[in-house]
Order: sequence, then structure tokens, then C-alpha cells
Amino acid sequence: MTYNPFREQYNSTSNTQPTLTSTPIPSLFKPFKVSNTSINLKNHIAVSSMCSFAADNNHEIANLHHSRYKSFASQKPSIIMFEGTFINSNSIIDDKELGIWNDEQAFKIKEIVDEIHSFGCICFIQLFHGGRMAKGLNIVAPSSIPYDSNSIVPKELNLKEIAKIRFEYLEAAKRSINICGFDGIEIACCNGNLLHQFQSKITNHREDEYGKKTIESRIKLLCEIIDDLNNEFNSTNDNSIKVPISVKFSINDNIKRASGIHPIEEDIMKMLKILVYDKKISILNITSGKISPNSKLRYTLNRNSNIPAHIIFSSFLKKEFSNTNCLIGCSGALNMNIPKLNDYIEKNKLDIAFIGEGFLEDPNLIESMAIKLNYLLPP
Ligand SMILES: Cc1cc2nc3c(=O)[nH]c(=O)nc-3n(C[C@H](O)[C@H](O)[C@H](O)COP(=O)(O)O)c2cc1C
Repeated sequence: MTYNPFREQYNSTSNTQPTLTSTPIPSLFKPFKVSNTSINLKNHIAVSSMCSFAADNNHEIANLHHSRYKSFASQKPSIIMFEGTFINSNSIIDDKELGIWNDEQAFKIKEIVDEIHSFGCICFIQLFHGGRMAKGLNIVAPSSIPYDSNSIVPKELNLKEIAKIRFEYLEAAKRSINICGFDGIEIACCNGNLLHQFQSKITNHREDEYGKKTIESRIKLLCEIIDDLNNEFNSTNDNSIKVPISVKFSINDNIKRASGIHPIEEDIMKMLKILVYDKKISILNITSGKISPNSKLRYTLNRNSNIPAHIIFSSFLKKEFSNTNCLIGCSGALNMNIPKLNDYIEKNKLDIAFIGEGFLEDPNLIESMAIKLNYLLPP
């Protein structure tokens, strides 16, 4: 079976339909702002990054992308997180994924971004490198450790090659902003991808400055990429942010169950503090697992199956980072109970609900969510 790092199953429950009223606005549908930016978000519902697996042979946009993103945008979510888009040809996990390593690819993506903007939606691109998950000829990773016994052994990256990848992230980001016109950039350090492989001790056995020895060294490449993006787009005198940066970060390898005393391991908490306090990212988008075949599914993380697993973490992080401008988002079965989701937003347990499969299953998801809250969406 082909490993798809993105898929995970969950059971959703459906609620019966109440009568609609137009008062008052539920917290989930209240507009808010991304601090220090000019970005106003319409509500707290975002489309989570989802590969369409529809790209053509040049890893460029196909018809399906147009119809899919138009369908998402017409529902007016706060943010559309564009699908994982690969920074070089060697980093691709699936033949049908999109690339942004040349201008032609970027100009085609621009057509989608223009369409999304025509509905008044904000859209970020997610930049991705598969590392040892890639299917290219020259598979690279922090260390020569294959995903499983059937996988190709990746080549350990040397310092020159790491510097090249760092440069390719910056070039991909420049195309994303200057050609495509995206409103922000999400760096994926999750789903077992290259940056996640550096971050996790399971996949990073290096002894050098990008190695396993310190917390800082494990996220050095991620931090350098963020620094490059901030230098390129956000070096203003007044602290304003022109291009907000989101990091989708795996905060638990899901190998063993959390202790329950402190939901986030010390190492990971230190990394998050670096990202939020030092690197001043605008969105911390929490996820977990998928670094190894031994990673359990996310819902094994908490004992209460009625609470989406990542809410435990986002609630904790909302308190921890309450004095910062960083918004906390997460994904994972958030649409299984809409009144509860509304409650999480109201009680400050989460800022942005990233929803994936729900948007694929229901072409009117946002309207369905409003109905469940007895709320009449404005025209
Ligand atoms: C078809 C599909 C493609 C996905 N592609 C990506 C991706 O490109 N990047 C990413 O970070 N996550 C990806 N994901 C994970 C989702 O963004 C999301 O985190 C996950 O599905 C959990 O949210 P959900 O339960 O609302 O679907 C994908 C998920 C699905 C179902």
C-alpha cells in the first residue's frame, strides 16, 4: 500500500438541523485581525492545506485545481491554505503534486490565487519538501534512515546541500508572493517531511550544527528559512508584517501517549517558544505524528474521544502565548461537533480551525456549520 502522509480517518457525527435565526453572531463567525498585518479574517474557519493530487506532468495546475479552489473560496472561509507545494523537483512525494521551482509553475498558480481573491478570501501557500518521503531519484534526508524496510535509503544531506535547500525555499517564497500574489506563507514542518525529519530525534541522528544534540540545531534549518523570509519581506522599521508566516508544526511524534501532566514535551515547548518569541511567526498551526510507521493516529493522543486530539494542545498554547501576536490554529476532525468547535473559539482554546476532509465531503460546509449554530450567514 502506498503511504499517504496526509490521510487519517475519524468518525464524524451529524447534528439535526435547528431553525435559523440571525442573532447573535456565534464566535466561530466573528471577524478578527492578524496582528501587525493588514489582514482581516472573516471568521475562524480555514481550509487546511490539502494536496489535490491532480498536477500535470510538469507539476503544474490542472482543471481540477480551478474547480476545487473556486468551490472553497465561494464559501468564504477566513483563509485558504493552498496545498503543499514543492520547492524542488527532488522533494516531490507523489507524481501529481504541484511544484513552485520555476516561474511557469508560479504563473499558473497565480490564476487560482486571483480567483480566490475575487471572492475576498485570504490565501497562503504551503511550502513543502518531502525529504526521505520523496519519490525522486536522489532522495535526501538529515540522516540515512529510510521510512520503513520497503523504502529507499536516503542520502544524508551535507552542509552545501542544506544551504541549497534553504535558498530554494526563499526562491519558492519569492515566486509565491511576487508572481502568484499569495497573502502569506506556511512552512510545513510536519507529516514526516524534511523539516520534520530534522526536528525529530527519530530521523535526525546528525552530530553537526543541524543535528540531534540541541533543540536549536534540530530546528536550525526551519529558523533560517523563516529568517530569510522575514529579511526578504518583513524588514520594516515599524514592526509591521507584510507577509505573515505560518508554521504547521508537529508537536508530538505520537509514538507514546502524553503523560497527561504536561501536554507538550519540554523540547518541543522550547522549539515553539523560539518560533513564537524569537522568529515572531503569525500563525502556529499544530499537528502531530506521521514521522514513522510507529506513529499512532492522532486520536490515540487523548483519552476523551469527544475532544479533537489537537485541541488539548491548542488550549494549552493559547494560554502560554496569550501575551504574543501569534494566532494558534490546529486541524484534525474539528468539524465533528460544530457547537463544541464554536465553544472552543469562544473560550479561547483556538483561533483558527483548519478543516480538511470536511471541505471535500461537503461542498457547502460553511453554510452547514452556520445552520448547526442556528446562524444565518450574511449574503
Ligand atoms: C487529501 C488530503 C491531502 C492533504 N494534503 C496536505 C498537505 O498538502 N499539507 C498538509 O500539511 N496537510 C495535508 N493534509 C492534512 C490536512 O491538512 C489536515 O491536517 C488533516 O486532514 C486533518 O484535518 P481534517 O480532519 O479536518 O481533515 C491533507 C489531508 C487530506 C485528506
